[in-house]
Amino acid sequence: MGRGIDGKVAVVTGAGRGIGKMDALLLAREGAKVCVSDIDADVAEAVAKEINDMGGEAMAYACDVTKFDQVKDMMKAVADKWGDRIQILVNNAGLTMDSLAHKMTDEEWDRVVNINLKGPFNCVRAIAPYMLKDEYKGSTTSCGKIVNVSSIAGAMGNIGQLNYSSAKAGLFGFTKTLAREWARYKINVNCVVYGAVATRLTDEKEKGVTVEGRPIGIPKKLRDMMAAQIPWGRFATPEEAARPVVFLCSDDAEYITGAILFVTGGVYM
Ligand SMILES: NC(=O)c1ccc[n+]([C@@H]2O[C@H](COP(=O)([O-])OP(=O)(O)OC[C@H]3O[C@@H](n4cnc5c(N)ncnc54)[C@H](O)[C@@H]3O)[C@@H](O)[C@H]2O)c1
Repeated sequence: MGRGIDGKVAVVTGAGRGIGKMDALLLAREGAKVCVSDIDADVAEAVAKEINDMGGEAMAYACDVTKFDQVKDMMKAVADKWGDRIQILVNNAGLTMDSLAHKMTDEEWDRVVNINLKGPFNCVRAIAPYMLKDEYKGSTTSCGKIVNVSSIAGAMGNIGQLNYSSAKAGLFGFTKTLAREWARYKINVNCVVYGAVATRLTDEKEKGVTVEGRPIGIPKKLRDMMAAQIPWGRFATPEEAARPVVFLCSDDAEYITGAILFVTGGVYM
């Protein structure tokens, strides 16, 4: 699954739990050195420990992707540890704060757009010195991979998610523009789009989990209705969501760039 990943240096944002955690574990299993980045230090450290305990190589780094200075410091810390070339970036960190459009606050709009769209912008700006090397320009083969994580909310819209769907739709243009700009350095830039993956974002709201002081999740009744509408018949597991990311980071995806890969169990086609 992960041809060509062995020995590469990877940064995965939002890797403390959910899909990002699985991205980190699978990339490490393929031999990547992984920076497990998350706004929550404790979970990032736990994932890095899990990787190191299984014989892989990982470092944890707590940072908020909306803060450019923190992201810049993280890329430098990765380069200080593993050398000044970083070959893989997975822009996975994401969060929802739902509200109907006419009731949405500035704070809800700004926070969600900042995390889901400006976060990836901050990461690509900060990784550029370590990912874009002049000598890559003449290369005939891939010199790096970026995977951006989007949602079908960006492709089809979703009631209550004007902020999130706008940001996730923004990642389509972001991916295609960056793919064009960085093709000369032979960096593949692609996007995976999820429908419903079983993580805390989509867990039953009735469980009462909160993030940044707000309840997260989907009411059980709505969750059951969503599952019934998926042709595949159920939510994806985090591993089913992460495996296509690993594929896009591998040599098998050498000629794929600017692509939007729908990993939705057929709910969007
Ligand atoms: N779960 C789904 O059904 C689904 C569907 C479509 C898209 N997605 C996308 O997949 C990605 C992963 O989501 P998940 O379901 O694993 O969610 P999750 O909540 O389980 O994991 C997301 C991680 O991102 C981290 N994070 C949040 N804000 C951050 C910030 N400002 N800086 C750094 N890290 C931050 C969180 O601490 C968390 O560990 C997100 O981009 C999400 O929008 C998920």
